[in-house]
Amino acid sequence: MTLRQAAIDVWERAYAPYSNFKVGAAIRGASGAVYVGCNVENVAYPEGTCAEAGAIAAMVAAGETKLTEIYVIAGSPSPVPPCGGCRQKLAEFGAGDVPVTMATMSGAEQATTIAALLPGAFDAGHMEGN
Ligand code: THU
Repeated sequence: MTLRQAAIDVWERAYAPYSNFKVGAAIRGASGAVYVGCNVENVAYPEGTCAEAGAIAAMVAAGETKLTEIYVIAGSPSPVPPCGGCRQKLAEFGAGDVPVTMATMSGAEQATTIAALLPGAFDAGHMEGN
């Protein structure tokens, strides 16, 4: 199954009764396995979680900590970029050159990378010599 199809399938299961904005994410781990996540909102709004965070949690729970590809889809007219927090989460498990595809249900796709999404990222090197 393609990452796009996996992301569409999980998008359908997103729980977004407050924003009515469903998001699906599919990531490929270094093993080749695909992990998916959707946004899960909560009546206490800040407790909601993003699709990317769900996919990352599934990957780590399965025993993988390296991702090689990311696909994010929403029902909006234009592709939706990962939020700031998710960019940092993706950078934790993916190298800068890892491709990120942002897509719409109608078929538009926009390609970028983790490094392009998070220039000047905070990483472990910034804590050296502290
Ligand atoms: N959302 C995601 O799941 N991923 C993103 O990268 C952007 C935003 C979700 C969070 C919330 O449930 C809804 O979209 C509206 O912000």
